[in-house]
Amino acid sequence: MVGDSRHPFVLDRERFDALGTETIKMLASYLRALPNEPVDRIVPEEVRQRLISLPLPEYGQSPEEILDFLRREIMPWPIATGHKRSYGWVNSPPAPISLLADAIASTMDCGLDGFDHSAIFLMKSLGRWIMELVGFPTEGSLCLLLSGGSSATLNALTTARHRAAARDGWNLRTEGLQGGRKRLILYASAESHSSIQKCAEQLGIGTDHLRAIETEPDFRMKPPALRTAIEADLQAGHLPFAIVACGGATNTGAIDPLDEIADIAAAFDIWLHVDGAFGAWAALDPSYRDRFRAFSRVDSVTLNPHKWLQVPVDCGALLTRHPEAHRAAYSLTPDYLEAGHSEAPWPYEHMFQLTYGNRALKVWAAIARLGRNGVAELVTRCNALAKLLEQRVRETADLELLAPASLSVVNFRYRPTAHAMDDPALDDLNGRISEAISASGKAHIPTTRVHGRIALRACFLHYENDESDVEHLIALVRRLGFELGRR
Ligand SMILES: Cc1ncc(COP(=O)(O)O)c(C=O)c1O
Repeated sequence: MVGDSRHPFVLDRERFDALGTETIKMLASYLRALPNEPVDRIVPEEVRQRLISLPLPEYGQSPEEILDFLRREIMPWPIATGHKRSYGWVNSPPAPISLLADAIASTMDCGLDGFDHSAIFLMKSLGRWIMELVGFPTEGSLCLLLSGGSSATLNALTTARHRAAARDGWNLRTEGLQGGRKRLILYASAESHSSIQKCAEQLGIGTDHLRAIETEPDFRMKPPALRTAIEADLQAGHLPFAIVACGGATNTGAIDPLDEIADIAAAFDIWLHVDGAFGAWAALDPSYRDRFRAFSRVDSVTLNPHKWLQVPVDCGALLTRHPEAHRAAYSLTPDYLEAGHSEAPWPYEHMFQLTYGNRALKVWAAIARLGRNGVAELVTRCNALAKLLEQRVRETADLELLAPASLSVVNFRYRPTAHAMDDPALDDLNGRISEAISASGKAHIPTTRVHGRIALRACFLHYENDESDVEHLIALVRRLGFELGRR
């Protein structure tokens, strides 16, 4: 507070206009420059060292110095997801309007945990919007905005576990898992996301009680195998408590046969959760809509605004048909928070966290900007680009399709026509192609394994992706494949 007795934050507030204008200029030039920057930018060694060894300042710095530091040392080194030729992680770029809405949420600093402020009421509409978009029943349902797909699914499975225990005559909240009760069993496709295994571990179920249900060659769960597993567990005296079906596998985009799985869940009265963190938005694509018809009768769905909706990390939405079951599993109101409830449900009563960020504004802003038609156009276009890439791979002699396009994902590899190569050599070559593409700065396409083979995995999610990206990717893979394959 040199020369002024007021607190530095008070001073900053008075100068907020100028600081804000400067910050917006930085953001604008970042976004403008992004398409022409290398897609993958590796943090140089000297920057890494500087960033990990910053001394704690004894005295505060000026806001200008702080902004300058962020401009020089932080902003040049992002991960690739904002760039339209980043085909890797299932994370979309941030919609500009959502960035701005997020700044408003931070400025107001009203947590979305509870109490009657504007965003709590907005959440009611936003939850209904998301449900209407993907065809989830709105009546009596609840939408929670958590940190991501993992936490949304964990919330649903915690509630399902509590409900199953209660139906079996015990209170999981008082007795815990130590009462020598029946073994709780969870079912999920062998292709399900790693977060499902983490949930089983976190919930104290243990991976020994997570049944990895066999899949078809196209990576979709085999419903008869699910039925057999449940019957065997019931026979053994266990307590099946939830099924997680895949609403778009990360690796391959595979969608489990939700209708058949819903029939089985209904027959055994087991909670059915759909992990649609990535794929559930595709319920808006007419060519995929039928595959998600079962949303009308599942218990809960995870879907991530930070995946396909172009919302900046983080946000995973949970749609549930059973708000009361969530309250039973979670609600705990300390004396100091007792207050009358309004008609808007307070999220903290339905989840683990108490204080948590207002993710509603950025999600609402993205949907408000696009409308139903805009979201549908986005997912439909991304899926169509994946189909186009599949077709281009099929008709190109030195490319090989490893899994058909599903949703916006395609797995393929480069395979030279001039000479034969076995699988290990092709694995090595395609790994090097992926690395060379990153090093070129022209795209980012990671590898994964499909039926044990290394694949180049392309996933389209960017609001600016178009046919030219498909042609660019094909040409890049072939050129680098040819050069590396020759050596
Ligand atoms: C299908 C699927 N489920 C769950 C997750 C986990 O979501 P998050 O990373 O938001 O926790 C992901 C994303 O990585 C995913 O693709």
